Parts: sequence; C-alpha cells; structure tokens
Amino acid sequence: MEEKIAKILSHAEELINSVSKESDLMNVKSELLGKKSETNDLLSSLKDMSVEDKKIYGSKINDLKNTLSNMVDAKLAAIKESEFNEKLSKESIDVTLPGTNIECGAPNILEHVIEEVEQVMMSMGYDVVEGPEIELDKYNFELLNLPKGHPARDAQDTFYIKGDEVLLRSQTSSVQARVMLANEEKTPIRVICPGKTYRRDADDATHSHQFMQIEGLLVDEHVSLSDLKGTFEVLAKELFGADTVSRFRPSYYPFTEPSVEMDISCFNCKGNGCNICKNTGWITIGGAGIVHPDVLAGCGYDPKKWHGFAFGFGAERMAMLKYGINDIRTFYYTDLRELKTFDRRENK
Ligand code: DAH
Repeated sequence: MEEKIAKILSHAEELINSVSKESDLMNVKSELLGKKSETNDLLSSLKDMSVEDKKIYGSKINDLKNTLSNMVDAKLAAIKESEFNEKLSKESIDVTLPGTNIECGAPNILEHVIEEVEQVMMSMGYDVVEGPEIELDKYNFELLNLPKGHPARDAQDTFYIKGDEVLLRSQTSSVQARVMLANEEKTPIRVICPGKTYRRDADDATHSHQFMQIEGLLVDEHVSLSDLKGTFEVLAKELFGADTVSRFRPSYYPFTEPSVEMDISCFNCKGNGCNICKNTGWITIGGAGIVHPDVLAGCGYDPKKWHGFAFGFGAERMAMLKYGINDIRTFYYTDLRELKTFDRRENK
C-alpha cells in the first residue's frame, strides 16, 4: 500500500508539472481523484480489509486525497498567476517605442507673420484687439476725418452691405475709433488690431479684394513723432534683422497730421539696390502719423490733453517681402504644394 501511495504521488507530480492550462489541469484532477482514479481504487479496496487495517489505511488514503487536491489547487493558483502576468505584460505600454506621426496642418504663413508682429508689440505693452469686418461708415470713414465726398475715400472703395452706411471695412483703422469710444474713462491706449479688410479691387498679383492689415494705436498725454519712430525702429529690427535702418517720408492720411510713409532699408541688398526694392534701397512697409486732433475730439479725447500715434501695415505685403512671395493670391489659393513651402513649424 505504502509503495502504491508513493507511486501515485510521484505520478501525480509528473502529471501536474506537465500541464500549463487550466482545462488540462482539470483533466489531470479527474485522473487523480475521479471515480476511475487509482486513489479511488485504493478506497474501494478498503472494504475487504480488517477493521484494524481499515483504520490505518483509511487515514493514509485520506491524507493522499488531501495532498493530491492541495497539489492541484497550488498548480491552479500558479496557472492563474502566470496567465495574469502574461496579460499584464501584453497590455503594458512600451514608452520607448517611436510614436505614430499624425499629419496635422500648419498656420498659414500670413498668420505666422501676424503672430510675429503681435509678439513684438505685446513685448512693448500693446494689447491685441479685434473689430467687426462688417462695419459702419461712421467708424470706417466718418470718425477718421473722412466725411462723405472726401476725395481720399476713392482709394478705399469697398463693398456696401446696406445702403451707404453698412460696409465691409476697407481698413483696420476703423478699430481706432471703436477703441477710443469704448474707453469711457479716457485712459491711455496701446493696442494693435490685425484683421481682414476689403476693397473693390480686381484681383491680380499685387491686389486682392480681401486682404489683411495690422493697425496700431497709442494714445497718451505726451506723445511725439519720435515715439512713433522708436516703436517702428524696434518692430523693423525684430522682423527684418538688427541691421535694418528705418526712415519716414512725408505723406497724407486724413486721420493723421503729420502723416508719414514708413520705410525700411532693403533687407535683400542692404540698401545697394535690387529688384525687391526697385533699385531704391528702401522698402515701404506701411503708413503712420500723429493722430489728428479732430479724430481724438470725435472719439471723446480732449486733443489739448491727449496725443497719439497710429500706424497701419499690409500683412500680405510684409509676408511677401519677408518670404519672397511674388503673388498675393498664393495666400488664398489652397495649393498645398505652395503652402507647404512656407511651413514654419520647427518639428514638422
Ligand atoms: N489705413 C491706412 C490704409 O489702409 C493705413 C494707415 C495709415 C493706418 C496711417 C494708420 C495710419 O493708422 O496712421 O492705407
């Protein structure tokens, strides 16, 4: 009997070690402890034994059954644990794997140039503001010293939405009047306003019925043309390089007096003359001037106390100069081949 029990145990160990799946282990269990098992045969053999032997062997067979079932349970626990570990290892994330590249768009080069201007101006304490594209004649012209019939309106013919009072703004200068009027406490102002503008122009390489401007306005108690010059100097150097020289030329705008054209030395030929600067050595970037007293007064700022300067750039013109683009339509035709050339992101 003892020998048999030892044999069953060593056979059981072999069987249990040979399986690694729960279903196989259940088969082994019935082979070891089921009705047709050797253990069961041993149990049945008890009935032919004497009472004495029954006591001795009965308890040995019982111990065998317990040992076998403990062995099966231990193996089951081991299988479950290794299955769990395997699942965990399959589900784990390998953070060292290279990521999947997701194609995404980039800001249009125009947007990029506007952001550059915003950054420079914000570093000088300017706020970025917005105004409506559908505008009233009052803000686009009237309050800017351009009454109806003023000849300077001709250069800014635009699209009229309703009668002759509601129009698509022809210049972001309209935001000047809005900002001054909205400031009820009449405190100093320092804003820039980038945005879309419209004109009744036929589209060609240098004209577009819709384009973008960046307007600037500063109002304070002691403001002179030299403040405007200093501000423009900083912007020009930041955008076009530290060796950029700037100059003002006299000009005329109804809402500024005096008015100037703002030029920079040609960044391409450094002033020697090339096709970008049309051999003049200078490139005009925008218009500017000292805010006309009538404009200040019309917007509730006492011109005896307050002064200001204003300026306006064409965003497309700036981008075209900076990136050597020779057709304004490039910005608006969604030709990806062309737009991709101007993708300014560092990590493409
Ligand atoms: N609004 C002018 C234009 O569209 C540009 C401009 C000139 C804006 C002088 C200004 C300024 O604020 O002071 O041609």
